[in-house]
Amino acid sequence: MSAPNPVDAPPHILQLLSDLHKKSLEQEAAIAQAKEGKIFSSMVMDELSGDDKNDPAAAFDKLMLDKFIALDEDKCQFTYQLINAMGATNVVEAGTSFGVSTIYLALAVARTKAATGKEGVVIGTEKEVSKADFARAYWRQCGPDVENQIELREGDLLKTLKEDLPEVDLLLLDIWSKLALPTLKIVQPCLRHGAVVLVDNTISGAEGYADLLAYLRAPGSGFRNMTLPFTNGFEMCVYMPTQQ
Ligand SMILES: C[S@@+](CC[C@H](N)C(=O)[O-])C[C@H]1O[C@@H](n2cnc3c(N)ncnc32)[C@H](O)[C@@H]1O
Repeated sequence: MSAPNPVDAPPHILQLLSDLHKKSLEQEAAIAQAKEGKIFSSMVMDELSGDDKNDPAAAFDKLMLDKFIALDEDKCQFTYQLINAMGATNVVEAGTSFGVSTIYLALAVARTKAATGKEGVVIGTEKEVSKADFARAYWRQCGPDVENQIELREGDLLKTLKEDLPEVDLLLLDIWSKLALPTLKIVQPCLRHGAVVLVDNTISGAEGYADLLAYLRAPGSGFRNMTLPFTNGFEMCVYMPTQQ
């Protein structure tokens, strides 16, 4: 018997999440064909051909423009649980895409804010205008309890995250692998002691994440790391520097 869904939300939100995960997996399966349905930016960039090889990053963005590539449902549920367990109220998400994982972050932050009386926000980031528009529409469908928790920063996250970050409880790195380390370095000064950094696909995407994983796992990095055994891996890194 599978475990019940831990997410406490009205039926229309649970239905929307279920529909969006389904769409996302269908899209991924169509692209990756026989490759077990998961897409890695480093993998696809290696396989580009012809003109696309000249600017693989732009070609990859073009390919992904209408794709959800949502965080897997069980990873979203784990993140929801973790936010509640930590009492996290300030969460940064890189990137947001159509805003599926963001809904879980918002639901969890709404609960922890209500339980602790603390202020807080989910800061999402998306550089594609069309994806940001879809994300906002889905959040609106969820209602104010979700919509009002989220501040979406549109544009290149290497710029949009440079200013006005609160003390961050949790950072979700669900972004093209080569952007993960630069993003972490921008947010790191704002991570509170005990903050959690989650990184998707760190087993299957290990090659693309080589620089990030070396940084996180270096002695004295301040991060305690564990690869959680979700499909393709999900890194949970706890920030506990000896000196702040
Ligand atoms: C894997 S998807 C995020 C999926 C999302 N977390 C979810 O679960 O629904 C990564 C997103 O990051 C966006 N992205 C890529 N480079 C970016 C950048 N430099 N700044 C902001 N967003 C970026 C992409 O457009 C893409 O939509």
